[in-house]
Amino acid sequence: MKKYIHDFKIITNRRVNDEYFVLSLSGNQQLPEIKPGQFVQVRVDNAPNTFLRRPISVYDVNYEKNILCLLIQIVGEGTRILSGLKKGEILNLVYPLGNSFSLPDGEKALIIGGGVGVAPLMLLGRWLKEQKKEPVFLFGFRNSGLLVDIDLFAGFGKVHIATDDGSTGEKGLVTQHSFLRKVSGDISMVYTCGPDVMMKAVALWAEKKDIPCEASLENTMACGFGACLCCARKTIHGNLNVCTDGPVFNSKELVW
Ligand SMILES: Cc1cc2nc3c(=O)[nH]c(=O)nc-3n(C[C@H](O)[C@H](O)[C@H](O)COP(=O)(O)OP(=O)(O)OC[C@H]3O[C@@H](n4cnc5c(N)ncnc54)[C@H](O)[C@@H]3O)c2cc1C
Ligand code: FES
Repeated sequence: MKKYIHDFKIITNRRVNDEYFVLSLSGNQQLPEIKPGQFVQVRVDNAPNTFLRRPISVYDVNYEKNILCLLIQIVGEGTRILSGLKKGEILNLVYPLGNSFSLPDGEKALIIGGGVGVAPLMLLGRWLKEQKKEPVFLFGFRNSGLLVDIDLFAGFGKVHIATDDGSTGEKGLVTQHSFLRKVSGDISMVYTCGPDVMMKAVALWAEKKDIPCEASLENTMACGFGACLCCARKTIHGNLNVCTDGPVFNSKELVW
């Protein structure tokens, strides 16, 4: 798949909550097809300490309006600088990078996300709905103040929520949500993105239920295109690069 390096203009910088914001971006060129699970490498300008680009999943795409959206959590200097970008300012992206989620055989798919791991799951939900599938979301957040665009996700399928403190949905880990106890044979694929420990629990649960599972990994990256090997992940086939062989893996291939 062809890669591009383009300047994009900030259309909006929307604050979602204390930690997360969504950048909507538009370029002069028509967006190529971007698949759910793919990511961009963002150049952080005017930041002497953020020499390397930052990998960020594609949150959503609107081809009609030629707009691409990124959901970003502020964790360090790079993402803090990005959070201050204003309408009309320029962001340079390398894109689209990595592989993508695959289509389930059956109708129903379960999408399990935690924290900023929900980022690649919006475009996944949109795509599944367009493919006439029935996604169901199960999301975990620390508290109700950190929920992300639940109304938008709900446009694609039912959303179940767990929070650590019980301020929204069920109290506790997403992997202990009562919805998982009710799942019967009609779910044909599980997709997950979030902290490694959560994805491991999801992968083991799916394996026990004999449901195929795809996990999107967020290993720390440098180049983003297979040159530096710093994103290597242990798999049953040996070490693979998350940036080019992933970020989406069949969970049975991963050594957790
Ligand atoms: C394929 C991929 C997709 C991603 N998608 C998103 C996304 O859609 N939205 C989003 O907010 N973040 C996403 N991330 C994580 C994001 O790249 C990092 O949070 C970001 O690079 C941190 O940059 P910084 O300069 O703010 O922080 P730094 O100063 O570089 O680091 C600050 C802190 O964040 C931690 N950190 C750095 N990189 C990562 C990482 N890859 N994963 C977890 N913690 C990290 C560091 O260990 C450190 O504790 C993704 C990562 C990958 C590999
Ligand atoms: S980030 Fe350089 S090889 Fe993956």
